[in-house]
Amino acid sequence: MDKSLITYHNPKAPDSEAYRMLRTNIGYTGVDKKHKVILITSSKMQEGKSTTAANLAITMAQSKHNVVIVDCDLRRPKIHKMFAVDNTIGLSDLLAKDEPLNRIIYHSVLIENLDIITSGVIPPMPSELLDSKKMEKLIGELREAYDYVIIDSPPILSVTDATILSKIVDGVLLAVASNETHVDAILTAKKALDKVGSNVIGTVLTKAKIGKKSYYYYSY
Ligand SMILES: Nc1ncnc2c1ncn2[C@@H]1O[C@H](COP(=O)(O)OP(=O)(O)OP(=O)(O)O)[C@@H](O)[C@H]1O
Ligand SMILES: [Mg+2]
Repeated sequence: MDKSLITYHNPKAPDSEAYRMLRTNIGYTGVDKKHKVILITSSKMQEGKSTTAANLAITMAQSKHNVVIVDCDLRRPKIHKMFAVDNTIGLSDLLAKDEPLNRIIYHSVLIENLDIITSGVIPPMPSELLDSKKMEKLIGELREAYDYVIIDSPPILSVTDATILSKIVDGVLLAVASNETHVDAILTAKKALDKVGSNVIGTVLTKAKIGKKSYYYYSY
C-alpha cells in the first residue's frame, strides 16, 4: 500500500483528520438527494486527484460505509498501484469486452468495506468507452450496491473524459493544488463543467504548506 494512503497508515495524523472533515462535509451536501456517486477531478495534471479519491474512499470505509473506488483514469491509471492490487482485469474489460461486473471487482483485504475497480488495460479510445450506455448502466448498478462510489479521473483541461463522467455522477469535487494552479485554469475547468450541467459540490485544496517548517498538510 502506497505511503500516500495516510488515512490507512496513520488514521490519527492531522492529514487524516482533514480527509474526515471532507467526508463529513460531503455528507452535508445534497439536500433532497444524497450525493452517493462522487467524481474527483482537477483542471490540470498532478493536482492530487488520485490521492484525494483514495484517502476519501478509505475514510468513508472506515466509518462503516460500503464504498467502491473506480479508476476511470484510463490514460494514467494509478489506483491499482496505490492499493497494490493487480490490474490485469478492470473497467476497460467490462466496457470493451463485456466482462461481468463481479469479475472486475476486487475486495480489499486490508480495508474492510472497501471494493476497488481498477482501470484494466489502457484502451485505445478511453473517451468513447466512458461516453457509453454501458458506463451509465455500471454507475447505476454501483449506486444501488454501495453507500458511496468514488471515481478517479483525468484532468478536465487535457481530455474530455472527466467532463463526460461529470454528467452521470451526483457531485464533482475539484482538486486544486495550492500555489501551483493558476486561477484561470480553475475557472476554465469550472466553466467546462457548468456547460454540461454538472454539479460541482466543492473544491479540495491539496499540497498546502501549513506550519513553520515546510510541512505538507492535506487540506480540504
Ligand atoms: N494533499 C496532498 N498534499 C501533498 N502532496 C500531495 C497531496 N495530494 C497529492 N500529493 C502528491 O502530488 C503528486 C500527484 O498526486 P496524484 O497522483 O494524486 O495526482 P493526480 O492529480 O491524480 O495526478 P495525475 O494527473 O497524474 O492523475 C504525488 O506525488 C502525491 O503524493
Ligand atoms: Mg491521478
